[in-house]
Amino acid sequence: MAVRLHINIDHVATVRNARGTRYPDPVLAAQLCEAAGADGITAHLREDRRHIRDDDVIRLRGAISTMLNLEMGATPEMIAFAEKVRPEVISLVPERREERTTEGGLDVLAQRPAVEAAIVMARRAGIKVSLFINPDPAVVEAAAAIGAQQIELHTGEYCTATEPGHSPALVASELARIAAATKRGRELGLDVAAGHGLTRHNVGPVVAIAGIEEVNIGHSVIADAVLFGLERAVRDLRAAIDRALAGRA
Ligand code: PXP
Repeated sequence: MAVRLHINIDHVATVRNARGTRYPDPVLAAQLCEAAGADGITAHLREDRRHIRDDDVIRLRGAISTMLNLEMGATPEMIAFAEKVRPEVISLVPERREERTTEGGLDVLAQRPAVEAAIVMARRAGIKVSLFINPDPAVVEAAAAIGAQQIELHTGEYCTATEPGHSPALVASELARIAAATKRGRELGLDVAAGHGLTRHNVGPVVAIAGIEEVNIGHSVIADAVLFGLERAVRDLRAAIDRALAGRA
């Protein structure tokens, strides 16, 4: 079974916003990702708009040809926005203002009224709902019970376990947790995605798990793009300077 690759372009906007410029444009980045074979584009509209902004999502909606996965907190503001923009998928994530990134999965039971409100809107608008949860079979069951069509399993703890200094046994047990949650999700008829902290070095064992259908990857691919693209960027800048110098008296 093929695994869909969704690229999260949030951190293109992080670089843009660091200087208040119009570049680099996350919409152009999304189109480049599609040209390179991405199956979908993911963007997280955070409450504090620290990277992606409302206008980026509206422009993405009109500019991409694959599918748009809008990550959002299950708040009335975001639900109304998603109803207006109509991405193919909304991924509901927990959101804490002070966190650097989404640190854990959604507590489906504690947030039940808010999640249900988002699911009701999504059904009405024909939008698929994915819940970003920890790889725990009990939470998978709660996600199915509440009416989600997809779960995205948080791979953060697995990714941390793959870093130097951690034991191979911990990697194996984290992969086993993801595999068990995937199996339970598939038994319950859910689509299963995975994401957070994945890189080209650690993604292999995750996509090898039977039943995983999609990965969402952001930070590491933008980081790789910075390094792999730097040589070309410096050459282009050098060429621009040399052209100008050729015309100087
Ligand atoms: N999936 C979800 C639900 C996320 O919130 C994030 C981070 O925004 C990702 C995937 C991508 O994580 P990373 O940037 O670490 O690849």
